[in-house]
Amino acid sequence: MSEIRICMVGSAMTDLIARVPRLPAPGETLIGSSFRIGFGGKGSNQAVMAARLGAKVSVVVKLGKDVFGENYLQNYKDQGINTDFVFFDEDRSSGVAPITVDDTSGQNSIVIVPGANDSLCSEDVQKAKSAITEAHVVICQLETPLEASLEAFKIARENQALTILNPAPARDLPDEILELTDIFAPNEVEAAMLSGQSIEKLEDAKQVAQALLKRGPKHVIITLGDKGAVFVSQGGEAKVHQAEQVKAVDTTGAGDAFVGSLAYFLGADWALEKAVARACDLATLSVQKPGTQTSYPYRKEVLNLLEG
Ligand code: RIB
Repeated sequence: MSEIRICMVGSAMTDLIARVPRLPAPGETLIGSSFRIGFGGKGSNQAVMAARLGAKVSVVVKLGKDVFGENYLQNYKDQGINTDFVFFDEDRSSGVAPITVDDTSGQNSIVIVPGANDSLCSEDVQKAKSAITEAHVVICQLETPLEASLEAFKIARENQALTILNPAPARDLPDEILELTDIFAPNEVEAAMLSGQSIEKLEDAKQVAQALLKRGPKHVIITLGDKGAVFVSQGGEAKVHQAEQVKAVDTTGAGDAFVGSLAYFLGADWALEKAVARACDLATLSVQKPGTQTSYPYRKEVLNLLEG
């Protein structure tokens, strides 16, 4: 395998995960069955997924000077991720994400408190220019300031790196970032919010994908949970990949498993259709185990999925 280099510019959160009999209603107190602390944050989840598949990964992130930050730095090292551009904010806490997971369905609800993630800025990205310049693929999300993602994608474009934007959590986006995006990869909730159109069925997702494509990205992929993904390229027809049906234990981070794997496969120059199909397979594997990064497989466990 020739080296696949990926640079992730984005978020790190410590997940505070409670399993509950069902997701709570407003004002309701529920008794949970278990609690665990894990490594999360959409960006870092994506970076870890790509690293586990065998990519050489760098991260450009900001942590707090606290125990969560120290532990997270060690986590990157344990995963073989380059930490040269892990920055620290002296004044803000590390990002955290209280998460509830429904014991029956495996569905989740997430709150993020970004803390130090909020101070990742274009100057930090400039300092990490060498990591972006040598990457085949650059990934960003929206848990860190847009100015950092914009700076990263400008450097990536100058160096012909593929850019993947996972617009999560969704917010209004200027066309400038979409025009610098090769692969725009929202989930169905984010795609509906960003397009202002509801998604009830597959045909709606196809239409929304076409509408988002008009804003500038070269390809749009909308992930649809257990229904798979809809994807479309400039000038093409929207296509569907149906995911394998399995019993979900915990869906947290499945979208990140998809994006991290997609980055790996596209970095390996696979065609979009095959990359989407295999990334769906990896996301499907992740929902069958509890936790976020704890649910991601290692290369040796999925060699059959990595063959071209
Ligand atoms: O996508 C899942 C992730 O969202 C969690 O790990 C949590 O930290 C939030 O960023």
